[in-house]
Amino acid sequence: MATRAQAIRVRGLEKSYKTLHVLRGVDFEVERGSIFALLGSNGAGKTTVVRILSTLLKADAGTASVDGLDVATRPASVREVISLTGQFAAVDEILSGRENLVLVARLRHLKQPGKIADDLLERFSLADAGARKVSTYSGGMRRRLDIAMSLIGNPPVIFLDEPTTGLDPEARIEVWAAVKELAARGTTVLLTTQYLDEAEQLADRIAILHKGRIIVNGTLAELKRLLPPAEAEYVEKQPSLEDIFLAIVGADK
Ligand SMILES: Nc1ncnc2c1ncn2[C@@H]1O[C@H](COP(=O)(O)OP(=O)(O)O)[C@@H](O)[C@H]1O
Ligand SMILES: [Mg+2]
Repeated sequence: MATRAQAIRVRGLEKSYKTLHVLRGVDFEVERGSIFALLGSNGAGKTTVVRILSTLLKADAGTASVDGLDVATRPASVREVISLTGQFAAVDEILSGRENLVLVARLRHLKQPGKIADDLLERFSLADAGARKVSTYSGGMRRRLDIAMSLIGNPPVIFLDEPTTGLDPEARIEVWAAVKELAARGTTVLLTTQYLDEAEQLADRIAILHKGRIIVNGTLAELKRLLPPAEAEYVEKQPSLEDIFLAIVGADK
C-alpha cells in the first residue's frame, strides 16, 4: 500500500561469512500490524536476516529499515522500536514469572512495573503461574513468558526467531495463541520458522528463503495457487505448505 509506510523494508540484502554466501540479495517488505513468516530450512539464513534487522550484525550490501529507520545508519533508534526473542528463552529460572517481568520493567525505567507484570501475565494466560519459579514452568509457559517480556515497553515491531522450535505440539499451540494475541493489538511481527504448518497457522504473508534469496512471497492462498492443479480426484485435497515448498524448491534441492 503506497499510503502506508511499511514496518520493515529489506532491499538487496547480502551477507557472507568468509566464503559462505548466506544472503545473496534478499528483498521483502512487512506491512504494519501484520504477521510475516520467513520460512526456510535449517541454515537457510533466517537468523542472519533477523540479526541484521535487529542491528546485531552488519550486512555486506543492501539496505534494511525498521519503522522507517535505516538499521545501518540509525541502529540506536532501531533498537528502541524493536524487541527480539530468540530460540532459547532468556528468562531467569530462579525468579518467578512475575519477578522476571517486574525486573525487566524496572530495567527499562517504566512506571508501575507491578501493574505491567500483572497485565502481561493475564494476557498470556500465566496469571495462575505468576508467583511460581520459572524452573517449574513447561516449555510452552517459558516461551510465552519470554514473549511477554519482549513486549515490555510496547515495541511496535517484534522479531520472533523460531518461537516454537523444540516445543511439544501442545506448547506450540499455546505459543501460536500468544503470537496471534500480539498481532491482534497492532504489533508488527516478523517470525522465522522451519515449520510449514506454523507459517500457515500464523502468517498474513509467507516468504520462503532458499539458497540466499526469497524464492516465493505471498499469502497462503497465493502460495497454494503456485501448485500445479491436482490430478482429478473425487475428494479435492488442499495442498499443504510442504507440498508447495517441495514443488518450488524440490527440483534443485
Ligand atoms: N557467525 C557465523 N560464522 C560462520 N558461519 C555462520 C555464522 N552464523 C551463521 N553461519 C552459517 O550461515 C548459515 C545461515 O545461518 P543462519 O542464519 O543461522 O540460518 P537459519 O537461522 O536459517 O538456520 C549456516 O550455514 C550457518 O552455519
Ligand atoms: Mg536460526
